[in-house]
Amino acid sequence: MLPSYYEFYNPVKIISGEKALDNLPYELNRLQVTRPLIITDKGVTDAGLVKTVIRAFAESGIILGGVYDDVPSDSSVTVVNDIAGVFRRNECDGLIAVGGGSPIDTAKAVNILVSEEGDNLFQFAGHDVLRRPLKPLVVIPTTAGTGSEVTYVAVIADPSRKVKMSFTSAYLYPRLAVLDPRMTLSIPPGITAATGMDALSHAMEAVTCLQKNPISDALAMASIDLIGKNLLKVVAHGRDEEARLAMSNAACLAGAAFSNSMVGLVHSLGHAAGGVAGVPHGVAMSIFLPYVFDYNMEKTAPDLARLLLPFGGPEEYANTPPAHRARRTIELIRALRQSLYDLCQLPRTLKEAEVSRDKLEAIARTAINDGSLTFNPVEVTYDDALLLLREAYD
Ligand SMILES: [Fe+2]
Repeated sequence: MLPSYYEFYNPVKIISGEKALDNLPYELNRLQVTRPLIITDKGVTDAGLVKTVIRAFAESGIILGGVYDDVPSDSSVTVVNDIAGVFRRNECDGLIAVGGGSPIDTAKAVNILVSEEGDNLFQFAGHDVLRRPLKPLVVIPTTAGTGSEVTYVAVIADPSRKVKMSFTSAYLYPRLAVLDPRMTLSIPPGITAATGMDALSHAMEAVTCLQKNPISDALAMASIDLIGKNLLKVVAHGRDEEARLAMSNAACLAGAAFSNSMVGLVHSLGHAAGGVAGVPHGVAMSIFLPYVFDYNMEKTAPDLARLLLPFGGPEEYANTPPAHRARRTIELIRALRQSLYDLCQLPRTLKEAEVSRDKLEAIARTAINDGSLTFNPVEVTYDDALLLLREAYD
């Protein structure tokens, strides 16, 4: 059934392929960027990936405006201000983010400062504060998980006020996302597994959360199909280019889906477990996914049943009686988690993620105040959240 009203928006141009990066000069020209600043982190530089990007436009007329490769995993206002300074001193005219979620969020925030010619990021925090287009931002993801290359959100910490500021605006969408398997080939199995489960949680929550619509649904189902066929492959054989590109596409599809449908309780618990106990985001997604789907079952059984087709494949779907399909989807999520544990010890429980039991109350308290909860199909109280955390503990 169609929603009585919905909106879907995603203006990002996506280029994907085993040599997609080679088109960077053409794309930068199209965007009228002549001096791009590359924003990335040390891990990406050490893996030689920045060199690959620079090489892609070395023989064009485009001059590298600089490389800032010191973005921490939890980016802050100070880092954003530093990079904006480099951008201005080097007279850059566009940004290229190379990395996972943190460099991409950082680049989006830097773009606010350099486009608005401001130095107080706080002034632009919140929803729809920006009023005009920003400078061109190109995103080259080096993980297949967050989908940030096609989302309109940035989250930046302000340690002095002990808060995380979030920025949402249609102007924060990158102008271009480049999916090239060369950029993800060297991710170790543990991170490949965790980021892949983040993408799966985006796609699966997209199909079950309150703002879902036919377009986000179609993208999410395509994403789940690719993840079902390729996640174990890339964790077991990291150099498989075809499977890597499939996972990058899956993460991108899921990003476009969930930024319109929104995500729910899996993410509320995940944000809280990250903030309170330092559980990496993808690990938390993998831990909570089956428990939340059990919890949401009363409202989402038909959607969970539909997920079985892309996730388990046509044979699995046909061989499962309709009344058991929703349960079977959850069983297959559990089986996937077990396989990931066997391959690379991806934690299945909070205990395996080294969370101490006395933190569960604090995680539950934080989770029920998380914004994502608004979009969960079933209401959640503190007691419900705590019960769920206890189930997921060991
Ligand atoms: Fe996520």
